[in-house]
Amino acid sequence: ENFFSISGDFSGKKVMITLGPTQEAIDPVRFISNHSSGKMGLAIAKAFRSRGAEVHLVCGPIALSIDPQSYRVYSVKSAQEMYEAAKGIHAQMDYCVFAAAVADYAPAQVASEKIKKSDPEMSILLKKNVDIALELGKSKRPGQVHVGFALETEKEEVHAKAKLDKKNFDLIVLNSARDEGAGFQHDTNRVKLIHRDGRIVDSGLKLKSEVAEMILEELKKAAVWV
Ligand code: CTP
Ligand code: CA
Repeated sequence: ENFFSISGDFSGKKVMITLGPTQEAIDPVRFISNHSSGKMGLAIAKAFRSRGAEVHLVCGPIALSIDPQSYRVYSVKSAQEMYEAAKGIHAQMDYCVFAAAVADYAPAQVASEKIKKSDPEMSILLKKNVDIALELGKSKRPGQVHVGFALETEKEEVHAKAKLDKKNFDLIVLNSARDEGAGFQHDTNRVKLIHRDGRIVDSGLKLKSEVAEMILEELKKAAVWV
């Protein structure tokens, strides 16, 4: 690595962050995607970097600029590509943060030519995408810390805790869709950080950069270095 090193409390640690949306092709000119900006993932990347970690970004298509001197960047489009890039580096990582808004479904077939309009109604058959966090959670080794995200609209804590258990996360960052000024596209966020042991920390409405620092603080408590 030729990244200049910064000393800090995460020096010597390797971090992988998935971020941004994924794009699932319908035909050569169209895709299915979502409004994820990648801002929260990048804020976490900056926090880790400024505290000494070597940060690997597995990044879906986003409009933000990423300094290639500071991060190792793997640019991907689809969920399948994101999975392959993440899987390729997962074993070397100390911390994995699954901040990407991965499309849950993709077209079952990608048309090789642009689909022409004809019928007044049309449908596209979708198939479930690989769950990146779930799959990599199965091969998490002792000492590795996995962080997930959840966006819920009802029974938030129950659903988030279930995702933490199912995907073998150590910490889950719960975004509530009901909070003003929080979430997609905003520079601010309000989250609840839920630990594996059930402990919950409410961030309050803060800049995403401040929420990122809080996540790192909670992560240090979750990490058990053997
Ligand atoms: N995730 C992932 N791969 C997927 C779907 C989700 O890695 N194919 C990760 C997200 O990055 C996030 C966590 O899993 O860290 C939870 O994502 P979320 O969309 O909230 O949960 P799902 O399991 O997809 O369930 P649902 O959308 O039905 O609530
Ligand atoms: Ca989902």
